[in-house]
Amino acid sequence: MTEAQAGPSPPTTPDHVPASLVFSYDFSGDPMFATAPVDAPEHLTRGAPDIFYSPLNGGFWVLKRFDDMREVSRRPDVFSNYPAGIPATVGRSRKMAPIEIDPPELDRYRYTLGPALAPPKVKAMEDQVRSIAGPLIAACAPDGRADFVEAVSSKLPVRMFLRLVNVDDSESEPLRILHRQLFSGATVEARIHAGVTLEKYYTDLVRQRQDNLGDDLISRYITATPEGGAFSFEDVVDATMQLFVAGLDTVTNVLSLTWDYLARHPEMQQLIRDDPSIIPSAADEMLRYTGIISSTRTLTQDFEFNGVRMKTGDRVLMPLNLANRDPEVFPDGGEVHFGRKINNHLAFGSGPHRCLGSHLAKLEMVVTLEEWFRRVPAFSLDPHDPALSHGGHAFGMDRLPLIWEAAR
Ligand code: HEM
Repeated sequence: MTEAQAGPSPPTTPDHVPASLVFSYDFSGDPMFATAPVDAPEHLTRGAPDIFYSPLNGGFWVLKRFDDMREVSRRPDVFSNYPAGIPATVGRSRKMAPIEIDPPELDRYRYTLGPALAPPKVKAMEDQVRSIAGPLIAACAPDGRADFVEAVSSKLPVRMFLRLVNVDDSESEPLRILHRQLFSGATVEARIHAGVTLEKYYTDLVRQRQDNLGDDLISRYITATPEGGAFSFEDVVDATMQLFVAGLDTVTNVLSLTWDYLARHPEMQQLIRDDPSIIPSAADEMLRYTGIISSTRTLTQDFEFNGVRMKTGDRVLMPLNLANRDPEVFPDGGEVHFGRKINNHLAFGSGPHRCLGSHLAKLEMVVTLEEWFRRVPAFSLDPHDPALSHGGHAFGMDRLPLIWEAAR
């Protein structure tokens, strides 16, 4: 994800796609993503068949149903994770690991990283997350206003990550700015520049760590001896880089969209104020409701999937937001219910590539909600300073100006 995406290409519909299944869906550029990203996938695919083919961006299948996305995610023999992105990311010489690596080669990455991010390890990180979230919120609470993205949601995950890889906090600002540019840079050139700079940063970091091993995630990769072979220097750089890419922007976006929702729904803020014990289930519900990721797969063979003929090399997009609103699984899925009983959502994906950072992500959400509601009174959107969001494989927010009554 560090290089340029191929530019827009003319609409493409291959011969094996029947006209009845063609429906244009612009998951990255449609203007609705700038103002209402959480509702955009459902709105923009309304009227389309459950499996349809969008001719944009080089052409790709789109799945709408929960069961279909779960099944495809669990068939890596037919639906490969390589290459990621629609259109496929270009100009890269190596696969992004682990996200573009299929099983069984994937296993050595997961066996190495998985235990370090398992529930007991993550539970032990709670104080660290709190020690970052609390001061960030305390710094803006007296002002009565803040751009939540700038003040909190983009700062928390990068600081937490630096602790996981044992890097000094002083590096968090330059890294945060580079990651913001990588995902939200105004031009392709700015995004490429950020990607190249970050790759060099992570390469240097791994090189330094080789001489200074510790109890951190990078050292874990360097010293691992999993079945399937130890990791090369390049493998470790790729895995480190992907860890940051997967774990920063995602958390920033779900936090921002959650606060955006709460700012628009004072009655839901009140529910949390009245009973903060609902925060963990509220966090889960917001993960479901936002469903920010659209994962991709590529057909490794000709395959008929639920009556639809797909061909080798066809691309598939899975907007997890749509799975999380599938009426057969989540009645009233377009609405937020903090007390929702069944919440087996797909926000973190499913199958062999299911998110390795899901417990940490949820902890960051829960702690940030707790720390915020302890310090900030009822808040709303700033009517004079509009929020801005974006579409793409991980939709989210660029800015979220909020206001509340300032402390006297
Ligand atoms: C709310 C925040 C997050 C969301 C919504 C999210 C979502 C996802 C999804 C949907 C996938 C699977 C993609 C696919 O199947 O193609 C994934 C994979 C992954 N995530 Fe997350 N993620 C989040 C936070 C994190 C964090 C905090 C970390 C790191 C600590 C992380 C690390 C990873 C990694 C390493 C993978 C690749 C796993 C593999 O390929 O086997 N994620 N994430």
